[in-house]
Amino acid sequence: MTQDEQKRAVAAAAIQHVPTGCIVGVGTGSTANYFIDELAKIKHKIEGAVASSEASAQRLKSHNIEVHDLNNVSDLPVYVDGADEITENLHMVKGGGGALTREKIVAAVARKFICITDQSKLVNVLGNFPLPIEVIPMARSYIAREIVLLGGQPALRHGFTTDNGNIILDVHGLQIMNPVELETTLNQITGVVTNGLFACRGANTLLLGTDEGVREMTI
Ligand code: A5P
Repeated sequence: MTQDEQKRAVAAAAIQHVPTGCIVGVGTGSTANYFIDELAKIKHKIEGAVASSEASAQRLKSHNIEVHDLNNVSDLPVYVDGADEITENLHMVKGGGGALTREKIVAAVARKFICITDQSKLVNVLGNFPLPIEVIPMARSYIAREIVLLGGQPALRHGFTTDNGNIILDVHGLQIMNPVELETTLNQITGVVTNGLFACRGANTLLLGTDEGVREMTI
């Protein structure tokens, strides 16, 4: 299967994890887009969705799926999203599309995080994909210096503003041996809004697209 076919296959498989009558948490990116298209086929069976980005909200609305404000939703059985990297412990790097903050918020509310990826995203050690960090613009240089002290090489994502009006530093050169510890450390740097490590709250299930079909891994 091509990478694109794997993405479509895991998006279709994720529908089996959506309980009837629920509001669904929906991620951002090309794989999440395929999931939204699959969700459209069962839209009469769900109450609606919560989106992790303006782009996903627009795509959901284009399918006439109701988009709810997360503040009005107390129960979110499932959140479905892609990842830029994921390990067998289901720790992830996310934020390649820049939606990491809203993704982390929706994931925090959800009871289950179902990660959907093609097989290229499964890695032994996180960090080859530059780690995105959303920062308050005036803290950019300070945070960059702190990241250098931690061994990373930060690069400003030029011409990009998040849905929250902030900027992104992409951190190169990290070999993330302890994702929970690094996620916690980065969160403590003043001016950091969110870092793209999803380890303190990782995925519960990975649906991985492979040449042999969809492989399911659950913790
Ligand atoms: C969006 O901000 C990211 O976290 C995405 O989940 C991630 O980049 C995966 O995107 P693709 O499904 O396009 O690979």
